[in-house]
Amino acid sequence: MEVKVAKTAGFCFGVKRAVEKAYEVAEKEQKDVYTYGPIIHNEEVVNDLAQKGVHVIETEEDLKKLQNGIVVIRSHGVPKRIYSLLEEKEIEYVDVTCPFVLKIHRIVERESKAGRHIVIIGNEAHPEVEGIRGWCEGESTVIKTKEQAEKFLESPPEKVCIVSQTTFNYKNFQELVEILAKKRYDKLVLNTICNATSERQAEAAEIAKTVDAMVVIGGRHSSNTQKLYEICSGECKNTYYIQTLADLDSDSFQSIQCVGITAGASTPNKIIEEVSKHVRIKF
Ligand code: F3S
Repeated sequence: MEVKVAKTAGFCFGVKRAVEKAYEVAEKEQKDVYTYGPIIHNEEVVNDLAQKGVHVIETEEDLKKLQNGIVVIRSHGVPKRIYSLLEEKEIEYVDVTCPFVLKIHRIVERESKAGRHIVIIGNEAHPEVEGIRGWCEGESTVIKTKEQAEKFLESPPEKVCIVSQTTFNYKNFQELVEILAKKRYDKLVLNTICNATSERQAEAAEIAKTVDAMVVIGGRHSSNTQKLYEICSGECKNTYYIQTLADLDSDSFQSIQCVGITAGASTPNKIIEEVSKHVRIKF
């Protein structure tokens, strides 16, 4: 059995930096340590951190109730008001927002101050998008589907700045931007998709084209893993989405010559290695 593991599988730069920092803070600090939202969409890592005393604050309401401790702001970033809240409450924080996300915060803050309506191509419910919206000084709209783009086009604002969630699929971004370009109005389009995502997606598609089965590893709630699965399924009909080795159904790999493996940005290397080793030995 040949196994092709994507070089870009696993933690991206921003996630690696955030996870390492959370461990570092847990080790060094005497105070209670919290992350605002799970540090990554990976239960194993979150549970391991919990054992080291790093607890997750799930909601803004709970953050408001916090009296002391140190808060780690994860790579997804947060709205501007969260920084204000922590500063008002004089709660110490460590900001590990990914620099690529910070760049989007700066763009939308600047462009919305300049009077542009901000359009974010992405998933409205995703914390990164909530964070980006929280830096807009004026109005903002989140667009994920063609229908939403068509609807926006019915009466577009005069001046618009279009950015993307870092993990959005490039092809879908282009399609939506094409729809938004059908009418004439003042628009500034900035492709803010992170390279880590596009490289991971391109490599996954290349591998999926050449294998008999493809395994995509990642958390159930990880949107970048869901997108990887979508892309790989388009190239290889035997594509499986697993969280850990335990989800791998051995029967799926009977009479298969070549398996490809990729993983989302929040999948620890340990899990990728376990899966690839298992596939190599077992089949
Ligand atoms: Fe940052 Fe890109 Fe990862 S935006 S968190 S390096 S997917």
